[in-house]
Amino acid sequence: MKTIMITGCSSGYGLETARHFLATGWNVVATMRTPRADVLPSSERLRVLALDVTQPASISAALEASGPIDVLVNNAGIGLFGAFQATPMSTTREVFETNTFGVMAMTQAVLPQFCARRSGLIVNVTSSATLAPMPMVAVYTASKVAIEGFTASLAFELESFGVRVKLVEPGYAPTTRFAVNGGARMEGLIPEAYAPFAQTIFASLAQQNAFTKESDVAEGVWRAVHDTTGQLRFPAGPDAVALAGS
Ligand SMILES: NC(=O)c1ccc[n+]([C@@H]2O[C@H](COP(=O)([O-])OP(=O)(O)OC[C@H]3O[C@@H](n4cnc5c(N)ncnc54)[C@H](OP(=O)(O)O)[C@@H]3O)[C@@H](O)[C@H]2O)c1
Repeated sequence: MKTIMITGCSSGYGLETARHFLATGWNVVATMRTPRADVLPSSERLRVLALDVTQPASISAALEASGPIDVLVNNAGIGLFGAFQATPMSTTREVFETNTFGVMAMTQAVLPQFCARRSGLIVNVTSSATLAPMPMVAVYTASKVAIEGFTASLAFELESFGVRVKLVEPGYAPTTRFAVNGGARMEGLIPEAYAPFAQTIFASLAQQNAFTKESDVAEGVWRAVHDTTGQLRFPAGPDAVALAGS
């Protein structure tokens, strides 16, 4: 039976992905900054571990506690909506610490076991913002586009070790905790001069009629993990699929 470790399982896409793999017979290591076993069904195949992807000691402790894994899903991420002019560089760095360097640090931490065993798979969850430019998310997009390039290049150097890397690109889901979790970070990022433009963006988001569901992303990760065709990118959710095709 194979073991999958998923980051950021306290809510949203990560939580649903953990449920999906549990329901289909996998051993699941669901990691969270603040572990809560009650958000997932109880199972002998489930382990809930503490993991903050920005903390090297937390990464090593989680991987030591999990034992060998077959698949790593780098799902943990934070959002940011606002005018770049008003975004403090400390906030930009905070976004990159989780969305970009956190993914790289997790990847580097699992590579020794994957390369030694000559098998293993890493799925990096980015965003449909990498498929077409979207307004007021310059920093967030940069943090995710960096992972697109990182993953595509890494695929070449890991191929001869039998280690695969994949990208899952979710669309916009208003139902996860993404906006709530980013609320405080976004305060003050829409100065007066940008307010009319920001309003047009909020209005067009309210009119959007295709959204991504948590289950779309769980299924996207599932497809990426079971892929045998060499496909690198897996848009997830109808809005992401439409963008990828346009
Ligand atoms: N929702 C969308 O519209 C959307 C669209 C495209 C892509 N995405 C991407 O999809 C992924 C999941 O987002 P979501 O929508 O499911 O949002 P979410 O409900 O806010 O879930 C994000 C998860 O990441 C965790 N996390 C944040 N910082 C972390 C850190 N330093 N270390 C470990 N875990 C951390 C959160 O944990 P805490 O509970 O501890 O904060 C939470 O479990 C993210 O990578 C996001 O960028 C989301």
